[in-house]
Amino acid sequence: MPARPVLILLAGLSLAACAREEVPIDAGRALFVENCAVCHGMGARGDGPLADGMRPRPADLTQIAARNGGIWDMAAVMSRIDGYRQEGGSMPEFGAVLEGPTVMVDTGDGIETPAPQPLFELADFLRRIQEAAPPGAPPAIDAVPLVRTTPGGG
Ligand code: HEC
Repeated sequence: MPARPVLILLAGLSLAACAREEVPIDAGRALFVENCAVCHGMGARGDGPLADGMRPRPADLTQIAARNGGIWDMAAVMSRIDGYRQEGGSMPEFGAVLEGPTVMVDTGDGIETPAPQPLFELADFLRRIQEAAPPGAPPAIDAVPLVRTTPGGG
């Protein structure tokens, strides 16, 4: 695997300060590069090699929280990637690709929900790359409790 950009490393370091039990950023990032970058682009800005031909274009995944009023909705994002939550368009379903051992994920409501670990790691990578919400929107990422994973059944 080629050397990872220093930027990612720095992002990981600054996040480490407030991390509890977090999966390594690399797992989710590797899944992203492998499965998503072709459409969403290496920087997740919706500008991958396939993007130009697509209508609608792939979403800018650094702005998911900003588009949602500054709120990171972990459950909604995981459902969207998984394919459980369909919205038409050409975003493929990745449920089958992202299967794996089950982890218990607190998606922010205090209730732990079982989820496949690769799906969670990918969604958590996206959470880490969210950019600040536009001025006026409520503060985004810092307000969202960090997701805790504990080994689950399966
Ligand atoms: C074949 C191209 C393609 C691939 C591959 C792809 N996507 Fe998408 N994705 C899209 C398109 C197009 C949209 C926006 C239109 C739509 O909603 O269907 C989208 C939308 C999304 C959204 C919704 C964003 C929002 O703000 O609601 C998320 C989240 C997402 N993709 C994540 C992923 C992840 C994670 C992967 C890799 C596992 C991935 N996508 C792979 C094309 C793709």
